[in-house]
Amino acid sequence: MAEVRLENVCKHFDEVIAVDNFNMSIQDKEFVVLVGPSGCGKTTTLRMIAGLESITSGDVYIGDNLINKLPAKDRNIAMVFQNYALYPHMTVFENMAFSLENFNRPKDEINQRVQEAAEILGIEHLLSRKPKQLSGGQRQRVAVGRAIVRKPGVFLFDEPLSNLDAKLRVQTRIELKKLHERLATTAVYVTHDQIEAMTMGDRIVVMCDGLIQQIGSPLELYDTPANKFVAGFIGSPAMNFFDADIINEGNAIFLQADEVRIDLPAEISQQLAGYSHKQIAVGIRPEDLIVCAEHAPGETIQGAVEVVEPVGNETYVAFNAGSFSLIAAVGRKTQIKTHSNLVIAPSMENLHLFDFENEKAIC
Ligand SMILES: Nc1ncnc2c1ncn2[C@@H]1O[C@H](COP(=O)(O)OP(=O)(O)OP(=O)(O)O)[C@@H](O)[C@H]1O
Ligand SMILES: [Mg+2]
Repeated sequence: MAEVRLENVCKHFDEVIAVDNFNMSIQDKEFVVLVGPSGCGKTTTLRMIAGLESITSGDVYIGDNLINKLPAKDRNIAMVFQNYALYPHMTVFENMAFSLENFNRPKDEINQRVQEAAEILGIEHLLSRKPKQLSGGQRQRVAVGRAIVRKPGVFLFDEPLSNLDAKLRVQTRIELKKLHERLATTAVYVTHDQIEAMTMGDRIVVMCDGLIQQIGSPLELYDTPANKFVAGFIGSPAMNFFDADIINEGNAIFLQADEVRIDLPAEISQQLAGYSHKQIAVGIRPEDLIVCAEHAPGETIQGAVEVVEPVGNETYVAFNAGSFSLIAAVGRKTQIKTHSNLVIAPSMENLHLFDFENEKAIC
């Protein structure tokens, strides 16, 4: 059993607050991804779990054991680093065997464990090579191999795919997921790539400026982002945002952004109580902007097409709706010309509204 629990964990580097009150229980065998922009505290969090960084305040547990003061080597954790950190003068076999030798495992057992890991990763034929004789993808496998020979209770990965080209990244992330299923070991995986986070994580932790913004399954984060930051970070192309006023007129409730007016369903008027005639931020994903034949005031937005970007399976259309621009994702067969007039209807059930001041989701 390797449940990892962080309680009120903080890390300060002098005046920099790298991690601010991190709270989470990572379940046994769970694959958790920490994602966020550069400098948000992902690596620092991982290093505190590994025991490579001291904790300023708070507690880290593995199972029921408080491990704040436990040396890294006694934590039963294996970490894979972004730069792989292989020993250049050792062969692949020696690199993989190194930690087992440090733990004074018998030779037979070391041979067997390295062979087993090499087989799983398809690198048996590389065991006598030195790291410099390997491609980037092969080095990456050796780095993973070095972690799995230890049969640790927890795997920590710090951006292990970032040195691979785009195609190999996709292939390797699938392999890592399969490996996780096979080994059934708790894993904490750091990336700044939201696609990697979405595709790999059982749960994702979105961080910004050392603070957890939201924890949830990939689709929870996508469908119900807790705030504007998460809404804009998860999803590609990113969610569109524009500012609007909430207007109540009699029984009607609508959004007004300059000349654009969008009538809102009566059901959400309760959630918007207190926002009447106030500014809010509106979020709508590109795929939730539906192309229409005709403009219907209160229901559609129209504007001039600025850029058309076919990406193959769909086409992104940037258009200008007066004081703001939006990007719509439309079907690949939809014929749209630059400078033409585009009419779109936002899918009302997928509209996101955020408080203008604190940027938290209203609905
Ligand atoms: N040893 C250190 N001394 C001082 N400040 C540090 C140290 N290590 C990290 N920091 C600061 O702590 C913050 C978090 O850094 P961290 O490396 O955890 O970010 P990250 O999310 O992993 O970013 P990246 O995606 O760029 O790897 C940053 O502001 C960084 O400058
Ligand atoms: Mg980092």
